[in-house]
Amino acid sequence: TGARRATVVSNQHKDISVILFSEKVVKERTLEMGRELAADFAEKQPLIIGTLNGAFVFMADLVRAIDPLPDGLQMDFLRASSYIGASTTGEEAVSLGLVSKVPISGRHILLVEDIIDTGKTLQELCARLKSQGAASVSTVTLLDKSARRQVDLQPDYKGFECPDEFVVGYGLDYNEHYRSLPYIGVLRPECYS
Ligand code: XMP
Ligand code: MG
Repeated sequence: TGARRATVVSNQHKDISVILFSEKVVKERTLEMGRELAADFAEKQPLIIGTLNGAFVFMADLVRAIDPLPDGLQMDFLRASSYIGASTTGEEAVSLGLVSKVPISGRHILLVEDIIDTGKTLQELCARLKSQGAASVSTVTLLDKSARRQVDLQPDYKGFECPDEFVVGYGLDYNEHYRSLPYIGVLRPECYS
Protein backbone atom coordinates (compact mmCIF):
# COMPACT_ATOMS: atom_id res chain seq x y z
CA THR A 1 0.00 0.00 0.00
CA GLY A 2 1.25 3.45 -0.99
CA ALA A 3 1.59 6.69 0.93
CA ARG A 4 -1.52 8.50 2.10
CA ARG A 5 -2.70 11.33 -0.12
CA ALA A 6 -3.73 14.74 1.16
CA THR A 7 -6.80 14.79 -1.10
CA VAL A 8 -9.12 11.98 -2.12
CA VAL A 9 -8.66 10.92 -5.74
CA SER A 10 -11.60 8.88 -7.01
CA ASN A 11 -11.11 5.73 -9.00
CA GLN A 12 -12.46 6.05 -12.50
CA HIS A 13 -15.51 3.82 -13.02
CA LYS A 14 -15.13 1.26 -15.82
CA ASP A 15 -18.13 2.71 -17.74
CA ILE A 16 -16.57 6.19 -17.86
CA SER A 17 -14.29 6.88 -20.82
CA VAL A 18 -12.92 10.18 -19.54
CA ILE A 19 -13.34 12.34 -16.45
CA LEU A 20 -14.20 15.83 -17.69
CA PHE A 21 -14.50 17.61 -14.34
CA SER A 22 -12.83 16.06 -11.33
CA GLU A 23 -14.18 16.22 -7.82
CA LYS A 24 -11.57 18.85 -6.96
CA VAL A 25 -12.28 21.04 -9.98
CA VAL A 26 -16.04 20.90 -9.36
CA LYS A 27 -15.55 21.79 -5.72
CA GLU A 28 -13.37 24.80 -6.47
CA ARG A 29 -15.77 26.15 -9.11
CA THR A 30 -18.77 25.61 -6.82
CA LEU A 31 -17.09 27.58 -4.03
CA GLU A 32 -16.41 30.44 -6.47
CA MET A 33 -20.00 30.49 -7.66
CA GLY A 34 -21.28 30.39 -4.09
CA ARG A 35 -19.32 33.50 -3.19
CA GLU A 36 -20.58 35.30 -6.28
CA LEU A 37 -24.19 34.36 -5.49
CA ALA A 38 -23.80 35.44 -1.86
CA ALA A 39 -22.79 38.91 -3.05
CA ASP A 40 -25.41 39.18 -5.80
CA PHE A 41 -28.31 37.96 -3.63
CA ALA A 42 -27.27 39.50 -0.31
CA GLU A 43 -30.25 41.90 -0.26
CA LYS A 44 -32.73 39.81 -2.25
CA GLN A 45 -34.02 37.19 0.21
CA PRO A 46 -33.64 34.59 -2.55
CA LEU A 47 -35.77 31.51 -2.97
CA ILE A 48 -33.44 28.88 -4.40
CA ILE A 49 -35.18 26.13 -6.34
CA GLY A 50 -33.35 22.97 -7.38
CA THR A 51 -34.60 20.75 -10.19
CA LEU A 52 -34.86 17.08 -9.31
CA ASN A 53 -33.34 14.66 -9.63
CA GLY A 54 -30.22 15.79 -11.45
CA ALA A 55 -29.41 18.96 -9.51
CA PHE A 56 -29.55 17.44 -6.04
CA VAL A 57 -25.79 16.97 -5.59
CA PHE A 58 -24.87 20.36 -7.06
CA MET A 59 -27.62 22.05 -5.04
CA ALA A 60 -26.33 20.53 -1.80
CA ASP A 61 -22.79 21.78 -2.41
CA LEU A 62 -23.79 25.13 -3.92
CA VAL A 63 -26.10 26.27 -1.12
CA ARG A 64 -23.42 25.54 1.47
CA ALA A 65 -21.01 27.68 -0.56
CA ILE A 66 -23.36 30.69 -0.49
CA ASP A 67 -21.46 32.46 2.23
CA PRO A 68 -22.23 34.78 3.93
CA LEU A 69 -25.81 33.54 4.09
CA PRO A 70 -28.20 36.15 2.65
CA ASP A 71 -31.05 37.14 5.00
CA GLY A 72 -34.26 35.34 4.19
CA LEU A 73 -32.74 32.72 1.90
CA GLN A 74 -35.08 29.77 1.48
CA MET A 75 -34.92 26.70 -0.71
CA ASP A 76 -37.17 24.16 -2.32
CA PHE A 77 -37.10 21.57 -5.09
CA LEU A 78 -39.24 20.75 -8.08
CA ARG A 79 -39.23 18.00 -10.65
CA ALA A 80 -38.72 18.74 -14.33
CA SER A 81 -38.09 16.19 -17.01
CA SER A 82 -37.58 16.56 -20.74
CA TYR A 83 -37.37 12.86 -21.40
CA ILE A 84 -38.59 9.71 -19.79
CA GLY A 85 -36.59 6.66 -18.74
CA ALA A 86 -33.71 5.27 -20.74
CA SER A 87 -33.20 7.91 -23.41
CA THR A 88 -30.21 10.15 -24.07
CA THR A 89 -31.82 12.33 -26.71
CA GLY A 90 -34.27 14.53 -24.76
CA GLU A 91 -36.98 14.23 -27.40
CA GLU A 92 -39.99 13.96 -25.07
CA ALA A 93 -42.14 16.89 -24.05
CA VAL A 94 -41.21 18.80 -20.91
CA SER A 95 -43.30 17.67 -17.98
CA LEU A 96 -43.20 19.60 -14.75
CA GLY A 97 -44.34 19.10 -11.24
CA LEU A 98 -44.07 22.65 -10.01
CA VAL A 99 -45.57 22.65 -6.56
CA SER A 100 -43.55 24.82 -4.24
CA LYS A 101 -44.61 24.96 -0.60
CA VAL A 102 -43.03 28.39 -0.47
CA PRO A 103 -45.08 31.02 -2.35
CA ILE A 104 -43.31 32.26 -5.50
CA SER A 105 -45.09 35.59 -5.77
CA GLY A 106 -42.81 38.59 -5.26
CA ARG A 107 -39.72 36.43 -4.72
CA HIS A 108 -36.31 36.62 -6.35
CA ILE A 109 -35.89 33.06 -7.61
CA LEU A 110 -32.60 31.33 -8.30
CA LEU A 111 -33.19 28.17 -10.32
CA VAL A 112 -30.47 25.55 -9.92
CA GLU A 113 -29.92 23.15 -12.83
CA ASP A 114 -27.44 20.34 -13.33
CA ILE A 115 -27.16 20.76 -17.10
CA ILE A 116 -28.75 22.81 -19.87
CA ASP A 117 -29.03 21.04 -23.19
CA THR A 118 -31.67 22.29 -25.66
CA GLY A 119 -32.76 24.84 -23.05
CA LYS A 120 -36.42 23.89 -23.33
CA THR A 121 -36.72 22.71 -19.74
CA LEU A 122 -35.28 25.89 -18.30
CA GLN A 123 -37.26 28.14 -20.62
CA GLU A 124 -40.50 26.47 -19.58
CA LEU A 125 -39.60 26.63 -15.89
CA CYS A 126 -38.69 30.32 -16.06
CA ALA A 127 -41.96 31.10 -17.85
CA ARG A 128 -43.99 29.27 -15.23
CA LEU A 129 -42.25 30.94 -12.32
CA LYS A 130 -42.77 34.36 -13.89
CA SER A 131 -46.45 33.57 -14.47
CA GLN A 132 -46.68 32.77 -10.75
CA GLY A 133 -45.53 36.31 -10.00
CA ALA A 134 -41.81 35.92 -9.29
CA ALA A 135 -40.09 39.30 -8.92
CA SER A 136 -37.12 37.91 -10.88
CA VAL A 137 -35.89 34.55 -12.11
CA SER A 138 -32.15 33.91 -12.33
CA THR A 139 -30.60 30.65 -13.40
CA VAL A 140 -27.47 28.79 -12.39
CA THR A 141 -26.33 25.61 -14.08
CA LEU A 142 -23.32 23.48 -13.35
CA LEU A 143 -22.92 22.43 -16.99
CA ASP A 144 -23.90 24.14 -20.21
CA LYS A 145 -24.07 22.18 -23.48
CA SER A 146 -24.53 25.42 -25.36
CA ALA A 147 -23.82 23.80 -28.77
CA ARG A 148 -27.17 22.01 -28.50
CA ARG A 149 -29.31 25.01 -27.61
CA GLN A 150 -32.63 25.25 -29.46
CA VAL A 151 -34.11 28.26 -27.69
CA ASP A 152 -32.77 31.74 -26.97
CA LEU A 153 -31.66 31.31 -23.38
CA GLN A 154 -28.41 31.87 -21.49
CA PRO A 155 -27.89 30.91 -17.85
CA ASP A 156 -27.00 33.80 -15.56
CA TYR A 157 -24.33 31.68 -13.87
CA LYS A 158 -22.61 28.59 -15.20
CA GLY A 159 -20.01 26.27 -13.82
CA PHE A 160 -18.53 24.84 -16.98
CA GLU A 161 -19.10 24.67 -20.71
CA CYS A 162 -19.85 21.01 -21.49
CA PRO A 163 -18.87 19.24 -24.72
CA ASP A 164 -21.64 17.58 -26.71
CA GLU A 165 -21.23 14.15 -25.10
CA PHE A 166 -23.47 12.24 -22.75
CA VAL A 167 -22.13 12.89 -19.26
CA VAL A 168 -22.94 11.32 -15.91
CA GLY A 169 -21.96 11.67 -12.28
CA TYR A 170 -22.33 14.37 -9.61
CA GLY A 171 -26.12 13.96 -9.80
CA LEU A 172 -26.35 13.28 -13.53
CA ASP A 173 -27.63 9.87 -14.53
CA TYR A 174 -28.26 7.38 -17.24
CA ASN A 175 -31.52 5.60 -16.33
CA GLU A 176 -30.87 6.46 -12.65
CA HIS A 177 -27.38 4.95 -12.70
CA TYR A 178 -24.10 6.77 -11.95
CA ARG A 179 -25.59 9.73 -10.02
CA SER A 180 -23.38 9.00 -7.03
CA LEU A 181 -20.05 9.30 -8.84
CA PRO A 182 -18.25 12.28 -7.28
CA TYR A 183 -16.95 13.58 -10.63
CA ILE A 184 -18.47 14.29 -14.07
CA GLY A 185 -17.42 11.94 -16.83
CA VAL A 186 -18.34 10.82 -20.32
CA LEU A 187 -20.37 7.59 -20.37
CA ARG A 188 -19.03 5.00 -22.81
CA PRO A 189 -21.55 4.78 -25.70
CA GLU A 190 -21.69 0.97 -25.38
CA CYS A 191 -23.28 1.53 -21.94
CA TYR A 192 -26.38 3.13 -23.43
CA SER A 193 -26.87 1.41 -26.76
P1 XMP B 1 -33.05 20.55 -21.99
O1 XMP B 1 -32.80 19.92 -23.35
O2 XMP B 1 -34.49 20.88 -21.81
O3 XMP B 1 -32.74 19.36 -21.02
O4 XMP B 1 -32.13 21.71 -21.75
C1 XMP B 1 -32.00 19.45 -19.87
C2 XMP B 1 -32.07 18.10 -19.22
O5 XMP B 1 -31.55 17.11 -20.13
C3 XMP B 1 -30.87 16.12 -19.43
N1 XMP B 1 -29.53 15.96 -20.01
C4 XMP B 1 -28.56 15.15 -19.57
N2 XMP B 1 -28.55 14.32 -18.51
N3 XMP B 1 -26.33 13.69 -19.07
C5 XMP B 1 -27.42 13.59 -18.28
O6 XMP B 1 -27.38 12.83 -17.31
C6 XMP B 1 -26.27 14.50 -20.15
O7 XMP B 1 -25.27 14.57 -20.84
C7 XMP B 1 -27.46 15.27 -20.41
N4 XMP B 1 -27.78 16.17 -21.37
C8 XMP B 1 -29.05 16.56 -21.10
C9 XMP B 1 -30.84 16.54 -17.99
O8 XMP B 1 -31.81 15.79 -17.29
C10 XMP B 1 -31.23 18.00 -17.99
O9 XMP B 1 -31.91 18.39 -16.83
MG1 MG C 1 -31.40 12.84 -16.21
